[in-house]
Amino acid sequence: MADLSINFAGIKSPNPFWLASAPPTNMGSMVERAFDAGWGGAVWKTLGEPITNVSSRLAGLDSGTNRLIGLNNIELITDRSLDVNLKEIAACKKKYPNHAVIASLMVESKKEAWQEITKKTQDTGCDGFELNFGCPHGMSERGMGAAMGQVPEYTCMVTEWVKEVSNIPVIVKLTPNVTHIVPPGHAAQRGGADAVSLINTINSVIGVDIDTMIPYPNVNGMAAHGGYCGTAVKPIALNMVSELARDEEFNIPISGIGGINTWRDAVEFMLLGAGNVQVCTAVMHYGYRIVEDMIDGLNNYLVDKGFASVNDIVGKSVGRMTDWGNLDLNYDVKARVNKEKCIQCNLCYVACEDGAHQSFVFEEVDGKKYPLVIEKECVGCNLCYLVCPSPGAIEMVRVDAGGPTQSWRERMGEH
Ligand SMILES: Cc1cc2nc3c(=O)[nH]c(=O)nc-3n(C[C@H](O)[C@H](O)[C@H](O)COP(=O)(O)O)c2cc1C
Ligand code: SF4
Ligand code: SF4
Repeated sequence: MADLSINFAGIKSPNPFWLASAPPTNMGSMVERAFDAGWGGAVWKTLGEPITNVSSRLAGLDSGTNRLIGLNNIELITDRSLDVNLKEIAACKKKYPNHAVIASLMVESKKEAWQEITKKTQDTGCDGFELNFGCPHGMSERGMGAAMGQVPEYTCMVTEWVKEVSNIPVIVKLTPNVTHIVPPGHAAQRGGADAVSLINTINSVIGVDIDTMIPYPNVNGMAAHGGYCGTAVKPIALNMVSELARDEEFNIPISGIGGINTWRDAVEFMLLGAGNVQVCTAVMHYGYRIVEDMIDGLNNYLVDKGFASVNDIVGKSVGRMTDWGNLDLNYDVKARVNKEKCIQCNLCYVACEDGAHQSFVFEEVDGKKYPLVIEKECVGCNLCYLVCPSPGAIEMVRVDAGGPTQSWRERMGEH
């Protein structure tokens, strides 16, 4: 058994799997059930001034028969009173001393308000704070959430206010609704944050009911933009995590969030620099029990790869990310068809013909027509490999490009 325990920015947890601040962490009884199921930590549903939610408030994106590959929400922060939440946090922490209980906070942009909620909340004995500078709907229109996270000066200022009175670690949760994630990350670090977490949800309109012509989710005939999350956002989250992880001036831990469903997703986030991960949509879809597979899968992966601790994989792929201008222009791969695995669906042919470089012809073998790649036409784009439904029927094979490695920067004489 590998050691799955972590110490994330001073917060200890039996494993790196935390629930993100959202409906699954709405109240004490839920968080306690989650801990019993195996979750190592939970970021409580964001605390603040009581709000009123709308109904309905969720909408989903399906892909064929796969339901909910993306989730859109217009839910606000907790609609329960601060006192009740604080009592439950204290009780939960007492009952689960070895689990990570993090309080997510969001109040109006006033020093007294932030410092008051910080002081009150830390009396519960919680292990850390997460400052919600990410919520992109509703709260941002009131000058909170993403309205903070989109302005680095505000991010820095509010982080400083909280750090002044906090005696436990402070994580700043960043919004993805910015053109470049590094300046907000630097701002959090400048403000004294002990770590950042990302991503919160992405501005989105998930669709329109074409019969009623009302966009989703329908609130009495009207809709508003919401926050997008779930499987579909993982690539965006991975990019943002890796951008911060490979920034030389950024050197505080990162909690990775966005589209994590399985242990594999978690490993990818950790390889790209996340010290732990948080999950929301997958739990809303499949329940707390998914953590069992996550723990088993992560442990088996670490043992197979010969790692004693989960911490050993954090950042292992960061050095493999670079700018396009540093990639080798002389690296060459070609598609090759394996007839034994080919089911002759011709999807590769169509994709290459209309979406790539017209590199396929057909060859007839025993009366059957198989696609054949003309290597000198193939640019190695991967498209045929990506559309092929039969595993192993197309392989991308490295060929000798006939030259030493050379990047675009080198070609331009930049180094
Ligand atoms: C219905 C819903 C409510 C959410 N509420 C909060 C919240 O109160 N505070 C917060 O920081 N993030 C909130 N989030 C964002 C999640 O914590 C998380 O950052 C986001 O969903 C991305 O993770 P995922 O792809 O695993 O869902 C909410 C997400 C959903 C779907
Ligand atoms: S890799 Fe691209 S160019 Fe080559 S055969 Fe496949 S689709 Fe065509
Ligand atoms: S897409 Fe794959 S299975 Fe279909 S014809 Fe091409 S190689 Fe064969």
